[in-house]
Amino acid sequence: MNILLLGSGGREHALAWKILQSPKINTLYVAPGNAGIGQIAEILDISPLDFTAVKAQVIDKKIDMVVIGPEDPLVKGIYDFFINDKEIQHIPVIGPSQLGAELEGSKDFAKRFMMRHNIPTAKYKSFTNKNIDEAYQFLEELKAPYVLKADGLAAGKGVLIINDLNEAKAELKAMLGGMFGAASNTVVIEEFLSGIECSVFVLTDGKSYKILPVAKDYKRIGEGDTGLNTGGMGAVSPVSFADDTFMKKVEERIVQPTVTGLQKDNIVYKGFIFIGLIEVGGEPMVIEYNVRMGDPETEVVMLRIKSDLVDLLEGVATESLDKKNLEIDNRYATTVMLVSGGYPGDYEKGKVISGLDSVSDSIVFHAGTIEDKNTIATNGGRVLAVSSYGNSKEEALNKSFANAEKICFDGKYYRKDIGFDLK
Ligand code: AMP
Ligand code: GLY
Repeated sequence: MNILLLGSGGREHALAWKILQSPKINTLYVAPGNAGIGQIAEILDISPLDFTAVKAQVIDKKIDMVVIGPEDPLVKGIYDFFINDKEIQHIPVIGPSQLGAELEGSKDFAKRFMMRHNIPTAKYKSFTNKNIDEAYQFLEELKAPYVLKADGLAAGKGVLIINDLNEAKAELKAMLGGMFGAASNTVVIEEFLSGIECSVFVLTDGKSYKILPVAKDYKRIGEGDTGLNTGGMGAVSPVSFADDTFMKKVEERIVQPTVTGLQKDNIVYKGFIFIGLIEVGGEPMVIEYNVRMGDPETEVVMLRIKSDLVDLLEGVATESLDKKNLEIDNRYATTVMLVSGGYPGDYEKGKVISGLDSVSDSIVFHAGTIEDKNTIATNGGRVLAVSSYGNSKEEALNKSFANAEKICFDGKYYRKDIGFDLK
């Protein structure tokens, strides 16, 4: 079959790598892709948000399935665009409907969903400019630190965690005043939860589900989890504290009620669910939902799936996921992200990358790269994800770090402590 994958990051390179291992694949197209993806798949130079252009390519290239990497096309309704168009409605789109994508597109929607279905999460209230005085009052009732979340998509920057009450009030006012544009017209204020986080990935056809390997990502730029938030600096799978006892609780209290909740609410959802979890005193609580795979978690999760991903995705499309088998690789997988100097602040692009040919025993997924006249150059803040297998976390990490050293570009930076907080 022919598959079209939308997106351009390390997540999409890892998905493409896994999809191409399937005996069922004829041609894999990726739009818009990057330099690394271009080495293994056919690149289409169209925006994932230009649905009309996507439709034209789907027809022209005889695409049998569309897999959506990032959240934006989902939140903008690509699933519904297909379903509502007679020419392409028979072509499955892997991802939720626009309503389902609100689990990521609106934090208030996600919170109300969790409340409705008794899914454990932090206590919260939502506010707009109309009831800002009540919001101040709610902040006074909470203990520091204060968690303020822009309701809508804010490129991963919409969550503020503030220690001082007066500062929290000032930031709340700024958020409601347009700090994140329309995304912060509504602000969710939450109780602060203290614990260690992990990412649980679920694949669902809307009826049944498979829990994919659990991973932990490292969001801060600095070692020891310090400094600014990034898109993710590395990841590890499996996660030592997410043992069988913990995962049983996750399945019973979170995964099952999420999937049945979607059914009860008549929300069409055939795709990946990313549940951001925090362990509080041994108990899992939901920090957030995303409606896609995580990045860089995908760069470890795909390594640990032994089964044919395309076969699983067909199960999603035909609502027969319960008949499919998910086999997991017991080895560890790690990824270390090489980023541009200055990221997540200002950074330069176009730095020539060398040393990719000398990498051995790791898989390098491209995140932000571009090819120009046979040279590969940096084209984003996160540049390359160096992923490795190992019989232990340390063995996998040592391979990722050794290969991270072999790759060179001006300003290269990576965290040397990925996995530091796990056994
Ligand atoms: P989110 O975009 O909702 O995932 O939030 C970004 C990050 O903020 C999370 O990964 C957590 O590290 C942190 N965070 C979000 N909500 C809370 C909370 N209620 N308590 C503590 N930390 C939180
Ligand atoms: N790694 C977190 C995310 O993809 O949002």
